[in-house]
Amino acid sequence: MLEIRNLVVDHGELRAIWDVSLDVEAGERVGLLGANGAGKSTTLGAILGIYKASGGHIRYKSAEIANREAVQNVEAGIALVPEGRQLFPEMKVRENLEMGAYPRSARGKVAENLDRIFDLFPILREKQNQNANELSGGQQQMVAIGRALMSSPQLLLLDEPFLGVAPVIIEEVMAALNRLADQGVTFLLVEQNIHRAMEFVERAYVIENGRTVLAGSKQQLLGDPEFSNKFLGLD
Ligand SMILES: Nc1ncnc2c1ncn2[C@@H]1O[C@H](COP(=O)(O)OP(=O)(O)O)[C@@H](O)[C@H]1O
Ligand SMILES: [Mg+2]
Repeated sequence: MLEIRNLVVDHGELRAIWDVSLDVEAGERVGLLGANGAGKSTTLGAILGIYKASGGHIRYKSAEIANREAVQNVEAGIALVPEGRQLFPEMKVRENLEMGAYPRSARGKVAENLDRIFDLFPILREKQNQNANELSGGQQQMVAIGRALMSSPQLLLLDEPFLGVAPVIIEEVMAALNRLADQGVTFLLVEQNIHRAMEFVERAYVIENGRTVLAGSKQQLLGDPEFSNKFLGLD
C-alpha cells in the first residue's frame, strides 16, 4: 500500500531525512520508532505531502505521491493525526471534527462519519458542544483522531498519539485503534513510547538521524539486543 525508498527531506538548509525506506501493506499495523529529533514527524509529513521530498520515492497504491499536494493525498485515503494534536482550542469539539471533512469526497459523509466517531469515542458525543480546550489531554487526542477519521482514511498516520495521555485513556484509545484496524484501516504509528507502540504494532522500523537503521517483526525486535540497547529505559 505504501512504499518508501531512499527518502530524503530537507527543512531549508537542514537535512532531516537522509535515507528512509519502509513498506506498509494494506491492513498492517506498522511502527516507526526513534528518539526525539530522529525524523519521524518529518517522514509522516512527507507522506502526507506537507514536506517536499528532495530525493527518493513515496508510492501509495502504486502511484508516486512524493511532492503531491496534501489535499490530494487525503482524497486518496491518507490521513495524519499530527504531533501535539493541533486542535483549535477555542472551537467546539464538533467544529474541530468537521475540519477533517475538508476534502470534497468527505463533505457528503459528515453526519455518517460523526456518528462513527461518536460510537468509537462516546465521550465526544457528550462533549461535542464544548470547546476543545475544556477537554482532558486524552479526550483532545480522541478529537484529533476523530478529525482524521472524517475523511474516511484507509491509511492512518499517527504521530505520538499517547504523549501526554493518562494510562487509563491510552487503553481506551488503543481499544479504538484496534476497532479501526478490525474495520480494515492500515496504520503507521510513530511513538517514543516504545512499550505502548509495541503493544499495538505487528512490525516496526527504527529511525536514527534520518535513516532507517533497524526493521523487523515485533518478536524479532524485542529479541534483538541492538533494539534493546537503543530503547531499553528510553521510556
Ligand atoms: N519545520 C521544521 N523546520 C526546520 N527544522 C525542522 C522542522 N521540523 C523538524 N525539524 C528538524 O528536523 C529534524 C527531525 O525532526 P522531526 O522529524 O520532528 O523528528 P522526530 O519527529 O523524530 O522527533 C530535527 O533536527 C528537527 O529539529
Ligand atoms: Mg516528532
